Amino acid sequence: MVDLSVELGPLVLRNPVLSASGTYGHGLEMCHFTPPEEIGGLVSKTVTLLPRAGNEAPRIAETEVGLLNSIGLENKGIDHYVADVLPDMARADTIVVTNIGGESPDDFREMAARLDGEAAIDAFEVNLSCPNVQGGRLPFATDPKTAREVIAGVRAATSKPIFAKLSPNVARISDLALAVEDGGADAITAVNTVLGMALDWRSARPGIATVQGGYSGPAIKPIALRCAWDCARSVSIPVIGCGGIATADDVLEFLVAGCTAIQLGTACFADPALPGRLVRELAALLAEAGIADVKTIIGTVRDGREILASSGAGSPARARETSNEEGLGAR
Ligand code: FUM
Repeated sequence: MVDLSVELGPLVLRNPVLSASGTYGHGLEMCHFTPPEEIGGLVSKTVTLLPRAGNEAPRIAETEVGLLNSIGLENKGIDHYVADVLPDMARADTIVVTNIGGESPDDFREMAARLDGEAAIDAFEVNLSCPNVQGGRLPFATDPKTAREVIAGVRAATSKPIFAKLSPNVARISDLALAVEDGGADAITAVNTVLGMALDWRSARPGIATVQGGYSGPAIKPIALRCAWDCARSVSIPVIGCGGIATADDVLEFLVAGCTAIQLGTACFADPALPGRLVRELAALLAEAGIADVKTIIGTVRDGREILASSGAGSPARARETSNEEGLGAR
């Protein structure tokens, strides 16, 4: 029997597989495909203070190897979430994470303050990284100072664990990771979607009404893996990998890169039963490899830090200074 349990700050998850925000309803909509008790956690769709109608249609375009979306954080707002969603989530036998969104640091703080007393919520995921609001600008996830301010505000408003969801659309994600760690985040979700665009040359029309949107699916896995690895080597808090994950091998790649858990997103649209199945496949792969505890593979990537550590050259921070942007290369 393989031990799949992992720890995300103060939370103990029965396994490292969570749903990704916006791809699995608020969680229980999919319970007939994957019972909540089979997975590590459910992350809600983003909830905002006021209801949001979302962006103009078309809001989704399928591309050759992925999905482009620009939903615009459509949701019914916090009052509806508290009255109509949370009572059901209290029955979910898994970790319940509420993803919160806002247009200002004050919005985020108010969301956390209003939801802090809700016993059904185990943690907040702070959506700093939606690419589809405010004209495609990313005010929170691209500026370390603002990202820190948002997280510090949420930290002041709640004692629940906070996951900070970062964007891949930045030059150096480690700066953002360090900023949200400093602001008081308990974990980092790396990453949200990659900015992309689709168009039909005959009609000259973009695939989605906002022209640019968030690109997801297997094609972004290498981007997400690099981001997650870079965050994990830069901070002390746990990292939750997200982006293009679709198989149990993908899950293990993210764990070896340094993630403590992962989220499944776009792949669930094609197969909502995937989360439960991947947990079973994960256990089988680890058993086949003779690994009894999934925690033992976290962060075992041979990116050069192990050489520095064994040669006594110093700490992970020293290894980062020594490495170039691409790392030291596998040995
Ligand atoms: O458009 C959207 O609602 C996307 C949200 C996100 O990527 O966080």
